Amino acid sequence: MTGPAAFPPAGFRRLVNAVTLRTGLHYYVDKTDLLEQVVGARMRLHGCLTCHDYLALLSDEARGDAEWRELESAITIGETFFFRYAEQFQALEHTILPQLIRRAAATRHLRVWSIGCSNGAEPYSLAILLTRLLEEADMVVADWHIEILGTDISDRALEQARQAEFSAWTLRDIPPARRQAWFAPVGARTWRLHDRYRRMVRFSYSNILDLLRPDGGPAGPFDLILCRNVLIYFAQAQAVGLVRAMADRLAPGGWLLQGHSEPVSDFSPFLETVRLPGTLAFRAARPATGQPPEPVAPRAPRRDAPPVALPARVADSTAIATEIRRVADSGHVRRGMQMCRDYLARHPVDARIHFLFAVLAWGEGSLLQAEESFRRVIYLCRDHVMARCYLARMLEDSGGWAQARRLRQQMIDLVRRCPPDMVLPDGDGLTAGGLLRLVRQISDRPAIQQARVPS
Ligand SMILES: C[S@@+](CC[C@H](N)C(=O)[O-])C[C@H]1O[C@@H](n2cnc3c(N)ncnc32)[C@H](O)[C@@H]1O
Repeated sequence: MTGPAAFPPAGFRRLVNAVTLRTGLHYYVDKTDLLEQVVGARMRLHGCLTCHDYLALLSDEARGDAEWRELESAITIGETFFFRYAEQFQALEHTILPQLIRRAAATRHLRVWSIGCSNGAEPYSLAILLTRLLEEADMVVADWHIEILGTDISDRALEQARQAEFSAWTLRDIPPARRQAWFAPVGARTWRLHDRYRRMVRFSYSNILDLLRPDGGPAGPFDLILCRNVLIYFAQAQAVGLVRAMADRLAPGGWLLQGHSEPVSDFSPFLETVRLPGTLAFRAARPATGQPPEPVAPRAPRRDAPPVALPARVADSTAIATEIRRVADSGHVRRGMQMCRDYLARHPVDARIHFLFAVLAWGEGSLLQAEESFRRVIYLCRDHVMARCYLARMLEDSGGWAQARRLRQQMIDLVRRCPPDMVLPDGDGLTAGGLLRLVRQISDRPAIQQARVPS
């Protein structure tokens, strides 16, 4: 880390503002330590001694844009994997894509946009799924004109996406037989996606904020837009404006999918909210045709859904949670995490197992996964006290003071409404009264009072 001389508060604040203005990543407003680390490395590379020098480099006519692109690659968080959010891929498979395919039967033309596509796992998952659905419907994929566009501001992620080579970790949710069918091994633990899927996706650099300019960003209309786990890092007001701009680029009746923990989930004036099993989806209005609206009831799941490696006797989530804890306690934490994933593939809205997964992921140092899963628990179970408690702790550890404070206050408000002797779900026997006592004890201790809060 660089010394304080390089980061006087005013200079650093200007830098944070410049980053937020350029990228929308409001996330760094209360994660300044993280930003300092990245910026410090870039400054050392260029021999910049102060924030002022570095800001001058960023606004340099000749070199500024290239440096911004490097900085964007370094500060963006590209966590992703194939078929992320099983319940959304179920919705795509059973409702959204079949509907779009039916509608496009005459033109055989579909346009899909994955915004913040990272290393390509998301748009490639769509390419694989679309191919399968067309083939199952006895259609010739080559007869269709399918455009899947993946955009991002991380040049590094886009480069990886174009190469289409993935580690076993990125493919972790794909059962081995399907991995064999869709990828070819190119090393001990690296797999390359087959060309037939690669050809369906085009990648380009594009900043989502361009959507806010008239005619900015890729031109619509798109039949489907995915913008998942991008706006979670943005300020809420900006996120609403961006979703509105995406809605403007949807074809009539086109769909928009967000991640599970996005800052806003009601776009009722300009998008219809459609509740599908385990997830919400958003749909653009359709022109009045006098026809009845298309049904959104999902098709029956296929029999060959990914196998779940669970003992048959484990029937409900209490039993599976006990079993997973036993496995994790005996030192096999990763195996425990996999058991959670397997179970969640079949029961995607089981908050208890998401919670357990989050705790295990945290223990394993997989902070992004842990954070995402705690947020999902809160999304699924609005009054979950322990998820807020853990998430606040975790965010504090990584410098997210403001968010942690908000979560802790919500936790206290919720727990005050519970009878004192109520045992808190997922609290290992902790009661509401017990938790309040703990909070009081902690805030009474001078050493634990607000640690350094970045200005
Ligand atoms: C956590 S990843 C999400 C990947 C994928 N959508 C998913 O849900 O698995 C967030 C991605 O958004 C990209 N991103 C962040 N800010 C962006 C911006 N202003 N414009 C476009 N992409 C952005 C990041 O580079 C990163 O690859």
